[in-house]
Amino acid sequence: MERMDEFFTERVEGYDEHMLANVEGCKEGYLEMSNYVPKNCSSLLDLGCGTGLELDEILKRMPNISITGIDLTQAMLDKLKEKHPDKPMHLICGSYFDVPFEASSYECVLSFQTMHHFSHERKLFLYEKVYRALTPDGIYLECDYMVENQEVEDFYYSENSRIRKELGIPADEFYHYDTPCTISNQIALLRDAGFRHVEKVFRIENTTLLVARR
Ligand SMILES: C[S@@+](CC[C@H](N)C(=O)[O-])C[C@H]1O[C@@H](n2cnc3c(N)ncnc32)[C@H](O)[C@@H]1O
Repeated sequence: MERMDEFFTERVEGYDEHMLANVEGCKEGYLEMSNYVPKNCSSLLDLGCGTGLELDEILKRMPNISITGIDLTQAMLDKLKEKHPDKPMHLICGSYFDVPFEASSYECVLSFQTMHHFSHERKLFLYEKVYRALTPDGIYLECDYMVENQEVEDFYYSENSRIRKELGIPADEFYHYDTPCTISNQIALLRDAGFRHVEKVFRIENTTLLVARR
């Protein structure tokens, strides 16, 4: 198991090509997500923006949108900046669990392929934070690695705990290990955080897009 930021720093070269060519559903998912960003959206927050593959599609449609991106890995943010040197993006290197979000500030918050590393408890905490950061009719879009079967979810969480225990890695430190949730658990977590309507709108292989309305 590698530390989260070291894992992505090691792989930043060739990352975009890998996601677009090898992770099934991502290429289509980036495009599909951009369709759900509200037309009147002036301010958007991207959690775990990385090199901004989802932002590449959104900026094609909405070149003047104001973007805040948060990511743990500086090398990924540097790549994003390199791709869009003249876009005034507000990029923050830090954890989205810790960085404060301004209340009622974004018409759209989104995340792409980053939430499948965390426990239900952490996600619920974050979704409540996202809920508060959205404007009253705001929307949260999450496209991620999700599964259909509870046994599969349980298997990955228990493997994660077992490996961490063996290596002496504390549960709260960010290490890269995939722990996908079931679609129904994801929807339930978002509902528990206060979202009034949550819907699965797209799925290719395990890449699944949920739309959560405040
Ligand atoms: C698979 S990449 C996805 C990047 C981009 N959203 C995409 O779809 O191409 C996951 C990203 O999440 C970031 N990440 C993981 N945990 C994070 C955390 N707690 N806070 C902020 N970023 C995090 C990683 O640094 C990495 O850039």
